Amino acid sequence: MHILTFDSHQKLHESGAGIIIGMVQTNPRAVLGLATGGTPIGIYQEIVKSYQQGIVSFKDTTTFNLDEYVGLPENHQESYHNYMNTHLFDLIQLQRSQTHIPDGNAADLEAECQSYDKLLEQAGQIDLQLLGLGHNGHIGFNEPDHALTGCTHIVELREETRKANARYFDSIDEVPTHALTMGVGTILKAKMILLIVKGGDKAEIVQRALKGPITTDCPASLLQTHPHLVVLLDSEAGRLL
Ligand code: F6R
Repeated sequence: MHILTFDSHQKLHESGAGIIIGMVQTNPRAVLGLATGGTPIGIYQEIVKSYQQGIVSFKDTTTFNLDEYVGLPENHQESYHNYMNTHLFDLIQLQRSQTHIPDGNAADLEAECQSYDKLLEQAGQIDLQLLGLGHNGHIGFNEPDHALTGCTHIVELREETRKANARYFDSIDEVPTHALTMGVGTILKAKMILLIVKGGDKAEIVQRALKGPITTDCPASLLQTHPHLVVLLDSEAGRLL
């Protein structure tokens, strides 16, 4: 595990973007696993800048997102489809055929999960999986539990996760109760994992995830078993390490 701590968000964002851009420059056909939420926005902004400067092209790149809410229309402001289009895909001219996000409005959600896994299998291994970290240790929407699921599945969001995400909605009642998420098995199969964490409110969970016991009570602790994990932290998030 390589842990890098930054005293400036700008440097952290540039470093994260640099790793992803370097991957695509070396392998233009790379398969990228992408995350949403507040954490990666600065990294996506740096990627867009490099794209606009002609430093990198994504024309042969494929992407798979970790998760999507159930029942939120794709064009809803807070859907992860809308997030990705707004923050990245439309700005680096990724065609919809190159991108994949689970369909949280599918009539048959179980079948949707299976077909997402099939698409992942057809694409081969994810070359780089970008991750944020939930306050309760979730990765993707794999919430703490007595057991975790390997493949894409429907998950009931924990109250604390809905509360954390309520900041983007008018009220907590509007935050969906369920989501589709890639499983921990798929996440751990990626060739490289890039975990990004910012903010002192996550210092404790960073400590548990990276240095604590490996347990399904903290899904991110399973990342300790990955042979190529790179962690980028701001100094507040890393203060207990
Ligand atoms: C998002 C995702 C989540 C977030 C996590 C942290 O696609 O899978 O695991 O990475 O909830 O969210 P932020 O970055 O908003 O603190």
